[in-house]
Amino acid sequence: MANKPRSNWSPAPPVELTSNSSLELLSQGAEARVWLLELNEPDATADSIGSVGRGRTVNVGRSISVPQLTSFAQKPSPLLVGNGVSRAVICKERFPKKYRHPQLDVSLTKSRTKGEARSLVRCQRAGVPCPNVLAIAQWPIESGEERNGMSPISYCLFMEKVDGCTVRQYLEVKSDEPAIKSVATEPALKRSKCNDETLYQPQDRVTTVIDADTLRVANTVGAILARMHTAGIIHGDLTTSNIMIRNPPAKSDDSWNPQLVFIDFGLASSISQTNQAGKKAKSHHKQQHNAEEKAVDLYVLERAFLSTHPGSDKLVDEVWRGYCEYEDASLPSGEYSQTANAVMKRLDQVRMRGRKRECFG
Ligand SMILES: Nc1ncnc2c1ncn2[C@@H]1O[C@H](COP(=O)(O)OP(=O)(O)OP(=O)(O)O)[C@@H](O)[C@H]1O
Ligand SMILES: [Mg+2]
Repeated sequence: MANKPRSNWSPAPPVELTSNSSLELLSQGAEARVWLLELNEPDATADSIGSVGRGRTVNVGRSISVPQLTSFAQKPSPLLVGNGVSRAVICKERFPKKYRHPQLDVSLTKSRTKGEARSLVRCQRAGVPCPNVLAIAQWPIESGEERNGMSPISYCLFMEKVDGCTVRQYLEVKSDEPAIKSVATEPALKRSKCNDETLYQPQDRVTTVIDADTLRVANTVGAILARMHTAGIIHGDLTTSNIMIRNPPAKSDDSWNPQLVFIDFGLASSISQTNQAGKKAKSHHKQQHNAEEKAVDLYVLERAFLSTHPGSDKLVDEVWRGYCEYEDASLPSGEYSQTANAVMKRLDQVRMRGRKRECFG
């Protein structure tokens, strides 16, 4: 793997690597860059990275101070400690935005990075599969110009690397098989009840494969979502790119139990499900509010599925099946299904609002 990212990004990546380590840019979004950091020096580097959980300094070619580490990394990650273990780490870097006031920019990037780490830790505690948080760190960009007397700074979230691919990649690769490609094409967003076809630009695209594997993936997405919502966590940006599959099998396998991992909690929020006395919130208003938040989360995912994966209606239905059939032994019998019914009813209302907006602006 190359030691430098393939393209010339500006500003330069905030990591200077030793000769044996490598850094690869995996994705560049409007808010963040995601790097794959591979540490190939078993002794010094593994040791210092391994000390992340104890809040010392991380050395990746040069010293970087990581003051906020201890609040998140509960214990040194087994991924990073010891010889012969994988030391591949994901670094999600939120970089400064020139269009924002420097002070506001620092406070936003910092709070989003911390917020994402917090949401990941909450998910882990609730048994929602997501990457292990290793550290958060400030990374001054040495080559950057000062603005309003402030040096530009990136905030980085280090986390476990999930080996596998996103659900989006999985569905696209599966649908790209030549035999399937010739079967049919259909317009994106065909589920919409709005008749004005000109609003959409139907494209001839490959229909998404619906088979036992993809249905199982969809069902598992629904079940994990249910667990996340039951824990009072709203993801805020559910798309098929923000859900990963660990090591999917190359060929169909009836015994496959998909290991999904939810990522990208930068817009996540929590809803309180208890009142001040710690009892389950009973007020009608509160329950409606919670149902609305969950329904909007589901709606975002539905739109993502249907616009990215043409003909994926059956997969969406399977997600809802997984969501509604979820069982939580810690809840009184019937309580979850009542909540799920309320959320699905609310989802109908959210869809109607969405359609009105599309048709009438
Ligand atoms: N822990 C991880 N392990 C492996 N790959 C990851 C991990 N986190 C992120 N990625 C990869 O990086 C991509 C972008 O990550 P993420 O969604 O967190 O960032 P983002 O900037 O919000 O991206 P986008 O704007 O595209 O949603 C993911 O789709 C995935 O391919
Ligand atoms: Mg994302």
